[in-house]
Amino acid sequence: MRVIIQENYDKMCTWAANHIAEAIKAKKEGKFVLGLPTGSSPLGVYAKLIEMNKAGEVSFENVITFNMDEYLGLPHEHDQSYWYFMHDNFFDHLTDMKSENINILNGMTDDPEGECARYEEKIKACGGIDLFMGGIGVDGHIAFNEPFTSLNSRTGVRTLTTDTRIVNSRFFGNNPEKVPAKALSVGVGTVTDSKEVMILINGHAKARALAETVEGGVSQKWTCSALQLHPNAIIACDEAACGELKVDSYRYFLDVESAERL
Ligand code: GLP
Repeated sequence: MRVIIQENYDKMCTWAANHIAEAIKAKKEGKFVLGLPTGSSPLGVYAKLIEMNKAGEVSFENVITFNMDEYLGLPHEHDQSYWYFMHDNFFDHLTDMKSENINILNGMTDDPEGECARYEEKIKACGGIDLFMGGIGVDGHIAFNEPFTSLNSRTGVRTLTTDTRIVNSRFFGNNPEKVPAKALSVGVGTVTDSKEVMILINGHAKARALAETVEGGVSQKWTCSALQLHPNAIIACDEAACGELKVDSYRYFLDVESAERL
C-alpha cells in the first residue's frame, strides 16, 4: 500500500487529480473505467479535474464512470441525491463527458436487488474498473459499507448506521431522521476487484480511520482495511489525517515516497 502524505487538503487534491489524469492518458486502447465517490473529500479533486479538462490537459471522451453509491428513495432532482451531486459538482462542467458513459445506481428503483445485480454485471461487461477513487467515513466505511459488512460483499442494499446518519445530517438540515436509512452501494469486494484503488483521507476527524486502515489488522470492523490485501492501493491524505499514525509509520511513508521521486 502506498500512503501519499501531502501538506494540506489542496495539495492532496492536486496529487490525486494528477494521478487520475495520468492514468486516463496512459490507457491507449479501449475505455478507461473510473469509479467515483461523493462527499466533501473529493470536491477539490473534481474542481482540479474540471480545470485540467477545460484546459485541454485531460479528455473524458473515452472514460466510463461508475459511482459508488446512492441513497435509496431519493430522486435524481433531490439536491442531496448522489446523482444530483455528481452532475452539479463534476459531470456538468466537463467539456466532453458523454452522458451514456455515466453510471449511477438508481435510488428510485422498485427492484433494488435487480438494480444492484445489473450494476455488477455492467462493471464486468465494461472490463472491470481501472481505478476506483473513494472517500472514507469516520468509522472507516468505504462507499456505504459500514463496519461489519463482509469484506467480500458485492453491490447491494445497505442499512446506514445511526452514526453515519448523524454525520451526514449536516446536508439534511442537521436532522438525522431526514437522512435516508438505506442506500444502494458497491461492495467492498467490488472496490477491491478494481485494478487500482485510491482513497482520499483528509482532516483530523478521519485520523483514527486512517490509522486503522493502514496499521490495524484487516478487519470487517474497519472495512477500508480490506485495501491492505490489494496489490495496487493508494491512500492520498493530508497531514491532519496522519495524527493517529505511529511516528515510525509516518516517517516510513515519507521516506519511501521521496525515494520514489529520485
Ligand atoms: C458518505 C459516502 C461515502 C463517503 C463518506 C465520507 O457516507 N457514502 O462514500 O466516503 O460519506 O464523506 P466526506 O468526504 O464528506 O467526509
